[in-house]
Amino acid sequence: MLNETLSVKINKTQNSKIESVDWENLPFGKVFSDHMLVMNYKDGAWMSPEIKPFADLSMHPATSAIHYGQSVFEGMKANRSEDGSVLLFRPDMNAKRFVESCERMCMPTIDEDVFTELVKRLVDVDRDWIPEKDGYSLYIRPFMFATDDFIGIKPSDTYTFMIFTCPVGVYYSNPVNVKIEEFYTRASQGGVGRAKTAGNYGASLYPAKKGNEEGFHQLIWTDGVEHKYIEESGTMNIMFVVDGKLITPSEDSDTILKGVTKRSVVEITQHWGLDVEERKITVEEIVTALKEGRVSEAFGAGTAATIAPIAKIGFRGDVYELPAVETREVSNRVSEYLTNLKLGKAEDEMNWLVTF
Ligand code: COI
Repeated sequence: MLNETLSVKINKTQNSKIESVDWENLPFGKVFSDHMLVMNYKDGAWMSPEIKPFADLSMHPATSAIHYGQSVFEGMKANRSEDGSVLLFRPDMNAKRFVESCERMCMPTIDEDVFTELVKRLVDVDRDWIPEKDGYSLYIRPFMFATDDFIGIKPSDTYTFMIFTCPVGVYYSNPVNVKIEEFYTRASQGGVGRAKTAGNYGASLYPAKKGNEEGFHQLIWTDGVEHKYIEESGTMNIMFVVDGKLITPSEDSDTILKGVTKRSVVEITQHWGLDVEERKITVEEIVTALKEGRVSEAFGAGTAATIAPIAKIGFRGDVYELPAVETREVSNRVSEYLTNLKLGKAEDEMNWLVTF
């Protein structure tokens, strides 16, 4: 058993910050738990992992991740059930996607079971940091970056893998307004859109800022060739209910992130017998349906965003308002189901939870 053989050195803090946390008002991603996990890679192998007090990193100014972008990450959440056990939601999917991101970015991979076990070990040490408040969670950020101090374009020979955690509140506290983007591009065929790599997010900031200036919280990205097909939103995958059917862009191209929440929404709604389609979706199809009042729901699905209802969709200067959130049967049902499941309040019929 991996949990018996994987040795992780643990050095606990003598100065916990837990008493200073305002548990009723947690912003997203600004409060950090007491410990972090660090594991270094050199000479073609991973060294022993260590859990240590959360602290700043010291870096060589030529650290290659800063210059050349070999940097990948994941986002996961832990919750606590009423009996005190910790629940992780589908960590195997994050582990798999992490491997895929590493491969695409020419970085060493981590065995998927080891990845999950390391997440569990860190969360276990900081399990008191899992918030109790409704809608709050412990956000988990595993990441890896290239550490060679070297100027030149080549894959680094050394890397650091780390995990830290943040008790978080909601990412979006209100329904979001999104604009269908037809000029800027998030990802193109053959690029790195499918990888959860830092540069994808950096490149999205300028177009998103322009969207913010027009009153939109986020963009709906379209394909990089013709801007004809809907792809994903900046912080989440995108889903619509049109004519009573749940539709979402398929992941056949390598331009869309394989979302854990999105996959779960597809699987559970199919399990419920709803009409679900994963396929190419044209902008024209959505805009026509919006004009004809046939879009009853639109929402984002993501680990941070969870199920984020979309209030308005902008396209070429027009803004289409969607039906009130209370009327949305599919997304409300999914949202309630996932929330209860992640808190251990619903039967884990799909076998998605890892409990410890
Ligand atoms: C996540 O959903 O976990 C992400 O990494 C997206 C980011 C906007 C926080």
